[in-house]
Amino acid sequence: MESLPVPSVQSMVAAEGGAHVPPRYIRPRDEAVATDGETEIPVIDFQRLQLGHDEEMARLDRACQDWGFFQLINHSVPEDVVDGMKANARGFFELPAETKKQFAQERGQLDGYGQLFVVSEDQKLDWADILFLNTLPVQNRNFRFWPNQLAKFRSALDKYSAAVKSIVDFLLVTVANNLGVDPEVIANKCGTDGIQAVRMNYYPPCVQADKVIGFSPHSDSDLLTLVLQVNEVDGLQIKRNETWFPVRPLEGAFIVNVGDILQIFTNGRYKSAEHRAVVDMKKERLSIAAFHSPSVHAVIGPLKEMVAHEHEAVYRSIGHDEFMKLFFSSKLEGKSFLDRMKKL
Ligand code: OGA
Ligand code: NI
Repeated sequence: MESLPVPSVQSMVAAEGGAHVPPRYIRPRDEAVATDGETEIPVIDFQRLQLGHDEEMARLDRACQDWGFFQLINHSVPEDVVDGMKANARGFFELPAETKKQFAQERGQLDGYGQLFVVSEDQKLDWADILFLNTLPVQNRNFRFWPNQLAKFRSALDKYSAAVKSIVDFLLVTVANNLGVDPEVIANKCGTDGIQAVRMNYYPPCVQADKVIGFSPHSDSDLLTLVLQVNEVDGLQIKRNETWFPVRPLEGAFIVNVGDILQIFTNGRYKSAEHRAVVDMKKERLSIAAFHSPSVHAVIGPLKEMVAHEHEAVYRSIGHDEFMKLFFSSKLEGKSFLDRMKKL
């Protein structure tokens, strides 16, 4: 698995003052964007879930069906763990270009500094640089790409990885209970080697912000993603009813989205959220996404509990390793990848 090398957008903007936007980054943007406050994006209170509040559980069930997306408040990740991760993500992109290059992705693998989903030389490009790191299981960590110039980067990411993993594990138990599925069924898909990867996104400002896209429309391929907005600049948008809804993260909240694998496991009852990121004209934007998937050895297909009576399986079943190879070998185009997982 790999992505073709592309120039650093951050370096390009630094070199040219950003006055010129190369044609490879110019994208049509014609869909409707909702005005502020048009629809409330669901907010879920983690503490209430932990206390077993029926109403909160029902709210989570609806959020996963209607939006595939919600904000999670009152989660138990300590502030210093979140702040430490934010500071180190910022710190990485502030390093000199030459230093960041030491962590550039290499042929045949995804970890490192660069981009993902670039599979052809004439494909349009996103206005962003990323640092992608496999974090779990621990044996998947390739420390060669964990910057050691920042004294605390490795410990900050290690702590963050463990903290968000435990949040997701609890959410998945609640999800299973909502679905009427034994939580062990999903837990066993993850086993002791459930996959977690962290993607740090850096979106430089762009003078033609409305002509470029920071992150192409896509849905995440995993079970659940936790996104943390690092600075005060918004840019994430969720697609619903052919309209893009801008997300304003609440103070201290995680943005959670249902991924394709959860849509497949639930045979379509829960929907992965199509989303994208737009960029600001004047300010850089940073975010950190933590993706959570089953074990590499798991079979990805509708859970038999979800197809038992009512519906036939909508999606086919394939090995997780093959699933990931397919996902990372095509460009992102909304939810088209999920369509390819449908049974013929
Ligand atoms: C992602 C993602 C959105 C953002 O990393 O998959 O959708 O706000 N990020 O940067
Ligand atoms: Ni995403």
